[in-house]
Amino acid sequence: MTSIDLRSDTVTRPTDAMRAAMVSAEVGDDVYGEDPTVLALQERVAGLFGHEAALFTPTGSMANVLGVRALVAPGQEVLCDSSAHIARAELGAHGAFSGITMRTWTGDRGQLDLSMAMRLFAPDMGPFFVPTAAISVENTHNFAGGAVLPIEDLRSLREYADSVGAGVHLDGARIWNAHVATGVPLADYGAIADVLCVCLSKGLGAPVGSLLVGPTEVVTEARVWRKRMGGGMRQAGILAAAGLHALDHHVERLVDDHAHARLLAEAVGVDPTGVDTNIVVVERPDAAAVVAAARVQGVLVATVGPTVVRLVTHLDVTRGDAERAAAVLSRLLG
Ligand SMILES: Cc1ncc(COP(=O)(O)O)c(C=O)c1O
Repeated sequence: MTSIDLRSDTVTRPTDAMRAAMVSAEVGDDVYGEDPTVLALQERVAGLFGHEAALFTPTGSMANVLGVRALVAPGQEVLCDSSAHIARAELGAHGAFSGITMRTWTGDRGQLDLSMAMRLFAPDMGPFFVPTAAISVENTHNFAGGAVLPIEDLRSLREYADSVGAGVHLDGARIWNAHVATGVPLADYGAIADVLCVCLSKGLGAPVGSLLVGPTEVVTEARVWRKRMGGGMRQAGILAAAGLHALDHHVERLVDDHAHARLLAEAVGVDPTGVDTNIVVVERPDAAAVVAAARVQGVLVATVGPTVVRLVTHLDVTRGDAERAAAVLSRLLG
């Protein structure tokens, strides 16, 4: 029996239909701006979020680095949640490549605590303190168990950021899950951010690819930085075709992943009403031992901290898989 892989929604393999779309993609050299499929994807995604332009990147991490650096100059800071992907899981890329610093608040379940962000915000006071140039939010929030940030909170953030002249970066690697879970239009999420990163390679099931979305001016400059970082891709239309296929076929079905996550939550003793989307996090002092025991029984799960086990549902997890995994995990975690 093959294992059921709940480590991440990045483990999906392209479906046959997605592979067929990739095979027949029209391509050109995208560093020359000549790949029609990449251009179509960029235009479509920009339009979905109500922004002027988008840039296809190999990874979400690169889109985040390009997006944050567009708002924050070397020597300035970005504020974010302490368990944000940009703070925890991009290996210090924003400091290493962009010369920026971060200060963080700790929100309950990754939520934006605007009052904490307000307390952290530092205006430019000359040659004394690091000035805050941007505030970053993550929706859905990965390490907070796929939690959705309510649109009202994001709108309040936008208002506050405007009032102090700060930028807003949205890490929307899983914005599709937030959109499907809440019914909030993608353009409403786009409207609260100056720049956003969205991923095709997570819940949407594409093998590779993310996009930076924002104003034309920002995307034009990000294109130069993408190349500088070694992220200029040539006949990338093969990958963009997978993304276009995913947008056509894999967005609405995320409701299934969310239902499967709630089923797993119930099995492991987590309140399913607190599971907004496709990720369940379980606090366990013996997290590594749980991962090892589950593996022996054909269920792959991950630790995302010494005491946190994470279960993620996705395109390659059927209802039957979820039920089988629930039976195994309820014995280990329930
Ligand atoms: C919230 C979030 N942002 C960004 C990324 C980075 O994406 P990538 O792995 O494509 O660099 C991830 C990856 O899991 C993520 O969960």
